[in-house]
This record gives sequence, structure tokens and C-alpha cells, in this order.
Amino acid sequence: MTESRSPGYCRGLVDKLESEKNLSDEEFSSVLLCDDHDFDSYLAEKARAVREKIYGKDVFIRGLIEFTNYCKNNCRYCGIRGENKNAVRYRLSEEDIISCSDKGYELGFRTFVLQGGEDPYFTDDRIVSIIRKIKEHHPDAAVTLSIGEKEKESYQKFFDAGAERYLLRHETADRSHYEKLHPGNMSYEHRMQCLRDLRDIGYQVGCGMMVGSPYQTTEHLIKDLRFIQEFKPEMVGIGPFIPHHDTEYADCQPGSAEMTLRLLSIVRLILPEVLLPATTALGTIDASGREKGIIAGANVVMPNLSPKNVRDKYLLYDNKICTGDEAAECIRCMTMKVSKTGYRVVVSRGDHISR
Ligand code: 5AD
Ligand code: FES
Repeated sequence: MTESRSPGYCRGLVDKLESEKNLSDEEFSSVLLCDDHDFDSYLAEKARAVREKIYGKDVFIRGLIEFTNYCKNNCRYCGIRGENKNAVRYRLSEEDIISCSDKGYELGFRTFVLQGGEDPYFTDDRIVSIIRKIKEHHPDAAVTLSIGEKEKESYQKFFDAGAERYLLRHETADRSHYEKLHPGNMSYEHRMQCLRDLRDIGYQVGCGMMVGSPYQTTEHLIKDLRFIQEFKPEMVGIGPFIPHHDTEYADCQPGSAEMTLRLLSIVRLILPEVLLPATTALGTIDASGREKGIIAGANVVMPNLSPKNVRDKYLLYDNKICTGDEAAECIRCMTMKVSKTGYRVVVSRGDHISR
């Protein structure tokens, strides 16, 4: 469309999005590309109002335990891809993982996110044992897994052991874009099948995408929004793409904080109850990115609980923040940042409102 729009056109679309939770593709495109100077603050204000109606001023914290950076996959954008011979690999022992969760519990965390590459060392039995032990130590805490694509039987075993949430970003809802970002042995179908399996089993499911990933177009982002509308995940992880020097996309432009914030607000408006993290990648691309994320409608932050000696090895992208802090420092810093936005970190499992 080349015709000029009236000055309030984009704001009008935000109002429509708020009331109808939907727009046409063309309207979504106008919202994503709008360059009115006061547009972003208007969009963020609406998203905040919607979030406050449901979750008030509360910000939920998740203790992220990055327990292995071994990965059998080779996502083209990812710094810990198996074929990156320069990555210094580590895995935490079960004992280390449990002790991270114990420390986290004392610091006020009531959700632990076990995140790792797809590491064959961590068989189903090993994962089940870790979940059981965390739940034994902390029955009132939630366990979230973020360990990639598995078969449904495995997901079921983890669920039966007590894991209640699973994060698996869909990365892009466009098949040919997915194929550009991943090697031939990974498939869009399997990724989507995994998300459906997780949902069928009864997990609270998180999908999500990078913003500004290589070859991404506005049409791809609209497809992501359509997928989110239809799948209705309990959580959506959105962060900017950031190049990693040891990947073929080392020289690509990173995604922008502005577009990431816009998408956070849009997702808040289409799924008012969604749990939406202000991600570390957003804090990496912009020093106050996470605070801006909260102001744009996010209601979750995920400080790192991994032991200090492995922090600087879980590098999916360059210049990652918080790689030198102890867990206690990280949570103190995060709590302060959040309170400056007018919101507050709470000690809570922070379940989706429907649970
Ligand atoms: N930049 C930003 N995010 C990345 N991820 C992986 N590599 C990068 C990168 N270079 C994201 C993916 C993955 C999540 C764990 O981290 O979306 O699902
Ligand atoms: Fe490990 Fe993509 S490189 S899952």
C-alpha cells in the first residue's frame, strides 16, 4: 500500500487490536512498520493496561539453569551448535543442578527452568531423576524444561515426573524460512508436532521466535502472530536475533530492540493472559531492554542461576549480559531494575492465569 494514511491511523489499529484481538494481515503490517513518532508509547501503554488487568504489577521470576551446552543439532544461528568446534563445552552434574535449585529457592525462586542444548548424555532417565529430585526438595516450585525436540513418550515421562511447563520456540512459522535457519536434518513439521504433543500431554507450553533473524520478512512475523493466535501458548519467548561470531550468520544485522518491543506489545494484546518474558537477548541488544520490555507488556524475567564458572560458556550469541554475576547478584540487580519500572518482582510460581 502506498496511499498516505491519516495521522491517527496506526493508533486506531492499536485500539482495534485491543478490542478485537485481531487485525487483517495488511493492518498487522501497518502496525509493524508504523513510523509515527508517538506510536510505540501508545502501543506499550495499551499493552500495559491489558497486562495489569490480569497480572497487576507483578513480575514473575524464573531461575534459569543452563545445565549443558553440548548440542547434537546445528541451528545455523546458534553459538552452541554441535559443529562449532570453538565452543568450550560443559555439563553440570545432577548434584550441581540440584544445588542450583536449592540456592535459587532460598533466593525466592519458585520456578526453575532447566535449559540445555540437545545433549544425548542427558537421557530420559537422567532428566526424570533431576525433575524428581527438584520436586522432592521443593514441592511448591514449578519445573520448566527447555531441552528441545523429543518424542512424545519422553515428554510424557518428564510430565509424569513432575515437570509442568515446556519452552520450545517455534523459531518461525514459515516453513521455507525455517529451512533457511536450520540444516536439512531438522524439520518444521517435527518442531510443530512437538508443540502439539506438549499441549496434548497437558504442559503449559511456550513457543516463540527471534526478531530480525536472517531472511526474516514482515510477512514471516505476521505468520508468527497468526500461529500464536491459533496455538494460544501459555508463554511466548521473543528476543532479537544477535549474531554469533562462529556461525555462518556472523555478519548479519542483529534484530532491533524497537521491533522486539512492538511484538511483545502486540502479543500481549492478542493473548492478554500470556506469560511474556523480557529476555536476556533484549537486555543484550539494549542496556535497558528488559525494563523496556516490562513497560511494553512483558511480565516475566529469567535471571541466571547457573554456577559462575560455566556462565560464560552458554553463549548462543555474542556479548551476552550477566555472564559474570553470582545468582544472588543477578536477582538483586533484576529486582532493582524491575522496581524502577513501577512493577515488582514477586515470590510465586507465576502460573498462567488459567491454571
Ligand atoms: N540470537 C538470539 N537468540 C538466539 N537463540 C539461539 N541463537 C540465538 C541468536 N544467535 C534463541 C533461539 C532458541 C533460544 C533458546 O535462544 O530462539 O530457541
Ligand atoms: Fe542446539 Fe539448535 S543448535 S538446538
